[in-house]
Amino acid sequence: MAALKILVIPGSLRTGSLNAKLAAVAAYQIAQAGAEVTCISLADFALPIYDGDLQTRSGVPKNAVNLKRMIGAHHGVLIVTPEYNASVPPLVKNTIDWVTRVQEPQETRGQVFRGRAFAIAAASQSRLGGSRSLAALRSILSACQALVIPNQLALSFAAEAYDDMDKLKHPADIEALDALVRQLIEISQRLT
Ligand SMILES: Cc1cc2nc3c(=O)[nH]c(=O)nc-3n(C[C@H](O)[C@H](O)[C@H](O)COP(=O)(O)O)c2cc1C
Repeated sequence: MAALKILVIPGSLRTGSLNAKLAAVAAYQIAQAGAEVTCISLADFALPIYDGDLQTRSGVPKNAVNLKRMIGAHHGVLIVTPEYNASVPPLVKNTIDWVTRVQEPQETRGQVFRGRAFAIAAASQSRLGGSRSLAALRSILSACQALVIPNQLALSFAAEAYDDMDKLKHPADIEALDALVRQLIEISQRLT
């Protein structure tokens, strides 16, 4: 059987992003667990703010089509998102919005989400660790009929969570991420 493929998407472009660091650690743990992992940057899939007139005029941007195909080429997806004002950042929501607009021949719109396993994680300097962003993201992905796995990770006080090598310092965080990653792999495997 071909290797299980997991796509990791950090929801921040910021230099030194706490979420990009968590995504990188997760990608390492996914590889350690035996799956093939791709970690992308949304900087490589830059998209304008969604505008229906723009879509009517110019169609769905190529980057949205490319990202949709990238998701479709993986069995499971992990999104690691910041929290902005108790919700998901515009980068994450706008990206999902554009991807749901992609219409490929022989497919219904949004098909790439349906029945695909998604895991969600967040890192924030707050005590809540971005958990309100996770609630919003779970709701958005569930509305797209993605299968959002029950486990999730909200990394609190994230600026202090990493060592000099950008690895997680605290065993409890490593174990929580490991549990998330393993559940994503297991459910992705079951769905293939
Ligand atoms: C517009 C804005 C709103 C924010 N709102 C929240 C919030 O509601 N909850 C929270 O925990 N952090 C909030 N933050 C702080 C972010 O969690 C913090 O900047 C984090 O480092 C961003 O993620 P990144 O490091 O991956 O870029 C906010 C930051 C910005 C820029």
